[in-house]
Amino acid sequence: MPKIKLNGKEIEVEEGRTVLEVCLEKGAYVPHYCYHPGLSPDGNCRMCILKVSTSRKLEASCMYPVSEGMEVETEGPEVESGRKDVLEFMLANHPLDCPECDKAGECDLQDFTFQYRGGVSRFRENKVIRHTKDLGPNISIWGNRCIACTRCVRFEEEISGEGSLSLINRADKAVIDIFPGKPIDNPISMNVIDICPVGALISRDFLYEARVWFAKETESVCASCARGCNVKITALDNEIKRMVPRHNAEVNSYWMCDEGRLNTKYVTSHERVRRFKGTPGDISWNAKKIVAENGAGSFGIVASTYATIEELWLIKKLADQLEAPVGFLTVERGEKMEYPGITIETDKTPNRRYAEKLFGTLGKIPSGCRGLLVINGIPGITWPDELLKAAEEADFLAVSDILKSPLVAKADVVLPGRAWAEKDGTFLNVDGRIQRIRAALEAPPAAFPETLWLQELLGIDKPGSSEEIFTEAYPGLDYAKLGNQGISTNGI
Ligand code: FES
Repeated sequence: MPKIKLNGKEIEVEEGRTVLEVCLEKGAYVPHYCYHPGLSPDGNCRMCILKVSTSRKLEASCMYPVSEGMEVETEGPEVESGRKDVLEFMLANHPLDCPECDKAGECDLQDFTFQYRGGVSRFRENKVIRHTKDLGPNISIWGNRCIACTRCVRFEEEISGEGSLSLINRADKAVIDIFPGKPIDNPISMNVIDICPVGALISRDFLYEARVWFAKETESVCASCARGCNVKITALDNEIKRMVPRHNAEVNSYWMCDEGRLNTKYVTSHERVRRFKGTPGDISWNAKKIVAENGAGSFGIVASTYATIEELWLIKKLADQLEAPVGFLTVERGEKMEYPGITIETDKTPNRRYAEKLFGTLGKIPSGCRGLLVINGIPGITWPDELLKAAEEADFLAVSDILKSPLVAKADVVLPGRAWAEKDGTFLNVDGRIQRIRAALEAPPAAFPETLWLQELLGIDKPGSSEEIFTEAYPGLDYAKLGNQGISTNGI
């Protein structure tokens, strides 16, 4: 392993690493634009320049390999002056858009300019105008803001494999564009918005929706498929404004799919069930009465694989207590799509693996029961005919769900459900990794936590927290260790 000196301190580094990678790993600050850890380096922006003892000029650290005995300086008057000059070129044609740009508050150009330029411009010429247009159904470009770092072009070549974007024109007219008549429209296209270091590529869904410094960010997990991509939920006024990926090398790398990203509108829709009808006490009274009069199997439960580990654990206990058959609602759709670092699963629910671990093969909807408790949570589900028939046959129907439906309308007892973004809990992903979800929003006032009323049905006087229920379900696992990256249960 070569030894180098980083800002005067000797360190051992791995052969073949670049100076920038080593600096970032060791916590040495080096501003950069075109480098992205999930993409191949390109060395075009020059913002990462610094001083190395093996060269007389400043070098772009993202392309410069470490070598034995090298001395690296990330700060100093020469480096600072180089960075200032690079920024001056970038800002020559950059508009003063920050007051209306969606990237403001999390823009690298804004941050580095603040740090190095001191608000002074020598540019007196007219600015070059580049195009502003839609590149696809979800993405627009504000060409004047583009610094031509080509992160988006490399994403389209190396990750989505579609090659939908290209840098056209030369010099100060260079800008990102699509091929004529071929919009960027692939299942993971919106990642180019996240990796754009400035506000050139903009989400049409998030356009002018929120200033990020007013919004609240919550680290959670996407629930739109069994992969469980790690995400950050940006919420303002108790509404999800956007969802962006969070790095997890074991699950989704730096990426997430467009469907998961956009599948959030139902959480605050007018179709939410907001009022309860009856109480959990009515469910337990009816369930016990039906079982006492008609015997085991006369009261059925229908759960969904959108339920958390904690909820499924309690549902299993309830089913055992009532000797109730349990059927499951799930959603399988489309084809499995594999990209470097991320796979889009056909199972469109987040917790099937745990349901199968707990219940074995997922049972069919119980038929011919006198009483039925349906605990859904899958947004926009198409109700299976067997369930509609079973609900029709039952003398007593209780439903807990998030959205209004014919089933909710005909139920004797209705308990409003909490959406995944409104509760704390855990999911077991398709690869056997337990990951935490965290409440990013406040649930409608009438939507009590499912874990609370399920414990009431079980006759538990002192209801336990999500953490306590998890510890009961997974006695060997430390809840605190789940952190924000989850842990693998393979081999447990
Ligand atoms: Fe090194 Fe752009 S980050 S040249």
